[in-house]
Amino acid sequence: MVELRDARNRPLRDLRISVTDRCNMRCRYCMPREVFGTNFPYLSRADVLTFEEIDRLVGLFRSLGVEKIRLSGGEPLLRKDLHELISMLALHGLELAMTTNGVLLPRYAPALSAAGLDRVTVSLDAIDEATFAAITDSGHTVAAVLAGIEAAESVGLGPIKINTVVKRGVNESELLDLVERFSSRDIATRFIEYMDVGTTNGWDLQDVVTAQEIRELLGSLEPVPPTHQGEVAKRYQLPQGGEVGLITSVTEPFCGDCNRARLSADGHLYTCLFASQGLDLLTPLRNGSTDEELLELIKSCWLNREDRYSELRAESSPSISRVEMSYIGG
Ligand code: GTP
Ligand code: 5AD
Ligand code: SF4
Ligand code: SF4
Repeated sequence: MVELRDARNRPLRDLRISVTDRCNMRCRYCMPREVFGTNFPYLSRADVLTFEEIDRLVGLFRSLGVEKIRLSGGEPLLRKDLHELISMLALHGLELAMTTNGVLLPRYAPALSAAGLDRVTVSLDAIDEATFAAITDSGHTVAAVLAGIEAAESVGLGPIKINTVVKRGVNESELLDLVERFSSRDIATRFIEYMDVGTTNGWDLQDVVTAQEIRELLGSLEPVPPTHQGEVAKRYQLPQGGEVGLITSVTEPFCGDCNRARLSADGHLYTCLFASQGLDLLTPLRNGSTDEELLELIKSCWLNREDRYSELRAESSPSISRVEMSYIGG
């Protein structure tokens, strides 16, 4: 195993793979309907990595030190026969997680678990149906997401985590309800500061409820030490038992030990969530490149990596192009 370090001495441990850029929701902060309509240029099927191509890349990334794979989208469960990809990836002996909006879990959780998926993280921004409907703009319900969480629980896809993006004036009033609902069930809720990913969500710093504000809202929290270096969420123990996490990319950036690489559904490698360009691996994959040639490309990309967007956010130009969250995964 090669110990690969980027230009800021950060190893490569976590590979997040987007398996589709499509979603069955239209969250206002991620895929606003007026931009992501039927005419949006979604990736064509021919441009999307096949399961065999993903599997080959995962094998290469593993040899470079990757220990965890997270499947994302868009909504990963829209990818046909996803359990087949999972059974291929399970043979690599890595931790296998998935981020999903949950509504398709009642249908797919048993097959995903049987195929070797270890755990899921479910996005849920509100318990109140009207608030949820206003955010997700899709006709899906909180009840459907809760059914998805239960389906995941019943087949052992845990520890389950909940991701809640917090936006000012939209869902601050939901946070205590979310904590109450999940803390007693060994499910950690993680509150995410609304981020300036992509360029279509009209992000404004005023809309960010800061981690400090969230801590004040939740009351007395006891910090819990990270389970591993580079952990995304700051974790806290709740007085009533159970755990919450805060993901503080805007006000308390965590680029210093960021060990995450991202692979888009069309096979481009991104070394930061806020990157404007990725390294094309699809073309060499399909042009008959050898494993050694692909490894060289990936290695030199990581060795030259200097990204720390969140730390530099205040200085960066707001007009710069950035890829969308639905394309690169979370
Ligand atoms: P586990 O700890 O393994 O459960 O995963 P994780 O903490 O990496 O969780 P998850 O993938 O659910 O990430 C939670 C959210 O944090 C993502 O959906 C993003 O919104 C945000 N996030 C994750 N990684 C990064 C990162 O490298 N940079 C920034 N700015 N945000 C990130
Ligand atoms: N800011 C913060 N989190 C976001 N997500 C999507 N868009 C944003 C954004 N602009 C979250 C989703 C999901 C995960 C993949 O990323 O809610 O939980
Ligand atoms: Fe879909 Fe998740 Fe984006 Fe919402 S946040 S539109 S569920 S990918
Ligand atoms: Fe990593 Fe980029 Fe997020 Fe910083 S902003 S933690 S470098 S993905």
